[in-house]
Amino acid sequence: MADVSLDEFLAEIEGLRAEASAALDAATDEVAMEAARIEFLGARSGRLKAIQKMLGSLAAADKPAAGKHFNDAKAAITALLAAVQERLAGGTATTIESIDVTLPGEPVRFGHLHPITQTIRRVQEIMARLGFESVTGPEVEDQWHNFEALAIGTEHPARDPLDNFYLAVARGADPLLLRSQTSTVQIRVMEKRKPPLRIVSLGRVYRPDTADATHYPMFHQVEGLLVEQGTTMAHLKSVLRFFASSFLGGDVKVRFRPSFFPFTEPSVEVDMEWGGRWIEMGGAGMVDPAVLEAVGYDPDAVTGFAFGLGVERIAARKYGVADIRDFYRNDVRFLQQF
Ligand code: DAH
Repeated sequence: MADVSLDEFLAEIEGLRAEASAALDAATDEVAMEAARIEFLGARSGRLKAIQKMLGSLAAADKPAAGKHFNDAKAAITALLAAVQERLAGGTATTIESIDVTLPGEPVRFGHLHPITQTIRRVQEIMARLGFESVTGPEVEDQWHNFEALAIGTEHPARDPLDNFYLAVARGADPLLLRSQTSTVQIRVMEKRKPPLRIVSLGRVYRPDTADATHYPMFHQVEGLLVEQGTTMAHLKSVLRFFASSFLGGDVKVRFRPSFFPFTEPSVEVDMEWGGRWIEMGGAGMVDPAVLEAVGYDPDAVTGFAFGLGVERIAARKYGVADIRDFYRNDVRFLQQF
């Protein structure tokens, strides 16, 4: 006596097959796939196992046909499971395709020029408008260019070994040194060229100073030199005032205080007033006839002026930096403000 008809059995099998197929198609990860495997193909309490038990309740004549359908369904579900397994194993490709390209990206951080480099370029630009060509000179210098030709005699205290970085390398009898000023470039240019000339030279200079808020053993200077017929202190002041107003912005006052430099006569200290505060920016003067003679110029035919300013000093004034050591610390939190 059969408890289950063949039609009932086949309907049961087809239903199960459809459910298993839907569950496996929907599986998007290993956990869901394993759950479906256990539900349908589980060896002990899987649903296929339950249907297999129904086979015993069929009429003997229906058993071969029912058995074949059962085997087909089991094979189909097993094949589907293998396909899902493969799909999930190629999962990396699936993940990449699922990146949302409409999301905003990670911002890229751009670098920029160091504030001292920016200052140097700005000074060069401004001075170029007045016809001053930008030139450079060596940082390792000989005594002729750093001292002698600038009328800084052998006995002058500026030559003191304690105030200079003399090197263990000599040219002739004189040890070379790291230049202590950019005035060296005045000499180098005048030795090679004839007047008229207008040059500006920006670069590093070295002095064995203890580092503090306003000193550092290496710093930068702006050197300016103009040699033409009929040059006066008035031209010097106009040039400095034009420079300061362009660089700092607004109307900057320039004040000269009498001073002394071996290579200028007369010599002055240059102060600038900006935002209600006077700051000493450097030195200047008319090129000393002895310097013009040292480079083979005729002091009766041409006169010139020269000036030297501290790059860190003008940059600190412009940007409101209180400690010049900040320029060299390479702290991006400081540098990214410029
Ligand atoms: N070389 C001087 C220094 O380092 C600055 C200076 C003063 C430069 C007067 C000049 C000048 O060209 O005319 O202190």
